[in-house]
Amino acid sequence: MTVLETIIARQSTRDWTEEKVSDEILAQLLEAGRRSPSPLNSQPWHFIVVRNKDAIKKIMGYAHHGAFLSHADVVVVVTVEKKAKIDQWLFEHEQHLYSGACALYNMWLASCELGLGSCWVTLDEQKVEEFLSIPSDQKIIGSLATGYSKEGYHREAPRKELSEIVSYERYGKTTE
Ligand SMILES: Cc1cc2nc3c(=O)[nH]c(=O)nc-3n(C[C@H](O)[C@H](O)[C@H](O)COP(=O)(O)O)c2cc1C
Repeated sequence: MTVLETIIARQSTRDWTEEKVSDEILAQLLEAGRRSPSPLNSQPWHFIVVRNKDAIKKIMGYAHHGAFLSHADVVVVVTVEKKAKIDQWLFEHEQHLYSGACALYNMWLASCELGLGSCWVTLDEQKVEEFLSIPSDQKIIGSLATGYSKEGYHREAPRKELSEIVSYERYGKTTE
């Protein structure tokens, strides 16, 4: 698959089989996160791999939109250093936080290429910090729940038309 094909094929998977994700596949997924871009190449992220079923179920209770989470084989929680080693200007623009989102999305895309199905799951920060012993200098960006999608799983979310979301030269100017 080309990158563009993967981007188009990606969707949120919220139902998985019992099949386990191998360590090799998981390593490739994490490598995709490691390869992500970040401001001044600060690489401020940290990935917590959760595979223990009881722990995943517990995390499910800390997600308002994650009732399906217990079926995931792996949950990767992404955090970012709150005081990333970047300059003040980039810091004020919160660019370090966005790089955490890049890493999460890179892993999501990679998971499609690796034959997995995934979903970004937003977590209650306070509760998950406590449960996973996340230090106070880290901020939770979100998590990627992954595994092998149930056969035939397909749920295509509609998208706004380009004409609704693109402007030319200034905001709101809809013609070139
Ligand atoms: C920042 C972010 C947070 C999200 N949080 C959740 C979530 O907590 N639970 C969930 O089921 N989906 C979550 N999603 C997935 C979106 O619901 C999904 O991407 C969107 O509906 C479009 O569907 P698609 O991913 O299948 O294209 C999140 C996605 C993003 C980018």
